[in-house]
Amino acid sequence: MRIDINNDWLWTDSFSEEMVKPSFGGGSGMKSVRLPHTVSMTPLNFFDEHIYQMESCYRKILDVPAEWEGKVVLLTFDAVAHEAEVFCNGESVAKHSCGYTAFTVDLTSRLNYGAENVIAVRCDSREDLNIPPFGFVIDYMTYGGIYREVHIDVREKSYIRDVYASAGMDGNVRIKTEIEGEGELSAKITDAKSGGTVYEGACDADSVIKVEGVKLWSVDDPNLYELTVTLRSGAGEDTYSTRIGFRDAVFSTDGFYLNGGKIKIRGLNRHQCWPYVGYAMPESMQRLDADILKNELGVNAVRTSHYPQSQHFIDRCDELGLLVFTEIPGWQNIGDNAWKEQAVTNTREMVTQYRNHPSIILWGVRINESVDCDELYEKTNKAAHELDPVRQTSGVRYLKKSSLLEDVYAYNDFSHSGSNPGCEPKKNVTSDMNKPFLISEYNGHMYPTKAFDDELHRQEHALRHCNVLDSVMANEDIAGSFGWCMFDYNTHKDFGSGDRVCYHGVTDMFRNPKLAAAVYASQNKDLDPVLEISSSMDIGEHPAGNRGEVYILTNCDSVKMYKNDVFIKEYTHAGAKYKNMLCPPILIDDFIGDQMKEREGFTDRQNKIVKDALNFSAIYGMDNMPAGMKLTMAEAMVRYKMKFDDAYMLFGKYIGNWGGQSTQFKFEGIRDGKVVKTVIKSAMTKLAVRLDVSSAELVEGATYDVSSVRISVTDEYGNVMPFYNRQAALEVTGDIELIGPALADINGGMGGVYVRSTGKEGKGRLKVTFPDPGLAAEADFTVRLA
Ligand code: GAL
Repeated sequence: MRIDINNDWLWTDSFSEEMVKPSFGGGSGMKSVRLPHTVSMTPLNFFDEHIYQMESCYRKILDVPAEWEGKVVLLTFDAVAHEAEVFCNGESVAKHSCGYTAFTVDLTSRLNYGAENVIAVRCDSREDLNIPPFGFVIDYMTYGGIYREVHIDVREKSYIRDVYASAGMDGNVRIKTEIEGEGELSAKITDAKSGGTVYEGACDADSVIKVEGVKLWSVDDPNLYELTVTLRSGAGEDTYSTRIGFRDAVFSTDGFYLNGGKIKIRGLNRHQCWPYVGYAMPESMQRLDADILKNELGVNAVRTSHYPQSQHFIDRCDELGLLVFTEIPGWQNIGDNAWKEQAVTNTREMVTQYRNHPSIILWGVRINESVDCDELYEKTNKAAHELDPVRQTSGVRYLKKSSLLEDVYAYNDFSHSGSNPGCEPKKNVTSDMNKPFLISEYNGHMYPTKAFDDELHRQEHALRHCNVLDSVMANEDIAGSFGWCMFDYNTHKDFGSGDRVCYHGVTDMFRNPKLAAAVYASQNKDLDPVLEISSSMDIGEHPAGNRGEVYILTNCDSVKMYKNDVFIKEYTHAGAKYKNMLCPPILIDDFIGDQMKEREGFTDRQNKIVKDALNFSAIYGMDNMPAGMKLTMAEAMVRYKMKFDDAYMLFGKYIGNWGGQSTQFKFEGIRDGKVVKTVIKSAMTKLAVRLDVSSAELVEGATYDVSSVRISVTDEYGNVMPFYNRQAALEVTGDIELIGPALADINGGMGGVYVRSTGKEGKGRLKVTFPDPGLAAEADFTVRLA
């Protein structure tokens, strides 16, 4: 039996021995909280990392029924940041020193049955703890609190402590069961979707069973099965269930293979934080990030930088077929012996707690970007291999040719700076060409980009992601790459843009897409049509009013461009500068089409010369025209008796379009001959608001539920207005509450708000009102009890 205990905790931002005693009571300034909980609500930016550093105390009254006597009662914390000491009825019963792994406390002999018991937790979120990731600087905030869920398991006296299951594409499943007490074991495997039984039979503590005709787990078709191991003993029946997937995931010298087929990893790094609440978000928000990665950003992999992340997130990766590279907590620094011991413990906890997930394809067993330390990494590699003999290990380095104890060399390649190759070849980096190689990070601090940066900056950000993706595709022996990173994140004073934010994301903190997001999305043809134009087409945003290079990012077969409803050109990916990307960005090189031929009566040759010159001038400016082009143009003017004024007039007529009617560019994305998406760029005359609600239904289950509402301010055509930087007033009514302030910062036309359920069934409404007259939007929610 499992009981969630996330509600009715008391918390205070200090700690004393008195507080853990049953006699202390709850009235003394403690606040009622629900888990996941953060010890400090933070502003969007401009806050100091000290505000979440403290020793604090949680208390919870546990009513323990008399019937539990004679059973085993286990209390599990999914995560407490960063050091936890657990007390039961005033006695210290456990201490855990990692903020990113779960731990279980056996309360059986400590409880008063048929009575009230007091559970208390001393939660230490100070960054001077001598445990990973602390000890030096860290480029992310570490927050604090019981920020994941807590539950109790009531088990039989003989019970299953843990099951390790590893299922291969040959249908073999190794099942290793750790039991407490004794009894007979049996295993049952069912199809997670249909519920149909595919295997049932006795097993030993370490068995390999064969399942015939299994459906494999893959990126495109992530079939899952439920394994239930049962222990029958004199005490009764105890069961342990875990989800599995049949697959072979292997990094080879020349790349990554899933079920024997080569897949180029195209991933992003993910932190586990949100605005205001830091790490503390329930299941729905954890799952949403996986959905965004798979279905909005179209990547096939994620690295959980730089620590193990919520089981809810990884569960969703299992369901979506998203490949995961997960790693032990840490950032550059390696501490003393006690610290290193903790890193080994963290490795053991990570592997034990996450090893049944089919989505996990690689263990990171080095501290991210640390120097070589064979003494430590021999231990972490050994621990990982012992606990999971199948999965390969890796460790993320900034070092080239470093000591390679792992199976895969992972390297943060920040060599790309705009105009050089996107990445280094494997041979320049690895210390062993016979071992697999992957790129674990790129871009990031090399080109921080805000959603409200100028257009050329945002475009350069997107193109740098293209440059790296293209180079990685070109290098057959690079297994793939993970871009830095999925979203902007709060960080320590030593990093970021001075406002405690690292603007390294392809989305902002609320997961609103920047242009670079479309680079990833457009590489995936299975996604809904993606069509983004890198420019608003407002020339005044560019130096000297030149259009500059404007790109189409799309996963459509072709894109038709119209100017004021006149067809100009149909673009495809053929002939693009990027030769290796699946759907490279397409340069817009024609603003005129065949119009001059038709309207000015130009010959083909005259049309070509004049058109090339006008298009060139539009993009790069007349002054930058190469000598050859100037000469051809001069010859053409003589030959066709054109005057300079004519050229000027033509420029004004076909390129400039000042005054009069505003120019409208229309782009039609085409798939299988049909228009599937249309983008219109024209002068805005009216603002509009778009609310993207992750779920209109909130479900009160294991704890409160949260819905994310992404806000964008657009023009009448749906284009986000990148220089709309104002605040929107938020108002909620009914049975929901706001997380964070009642004012939403809209930066670069985008922002967000999170609403949560309050424990009650009912309805709620969110109203978002902007300072602009008439600009407002509403979203309705229902709250259901699970
Ligand atoms: C890396 C580091 C990441 C992040 C990134 C920024 O060195 O591993 O955590 O700081 O740089 O580009």
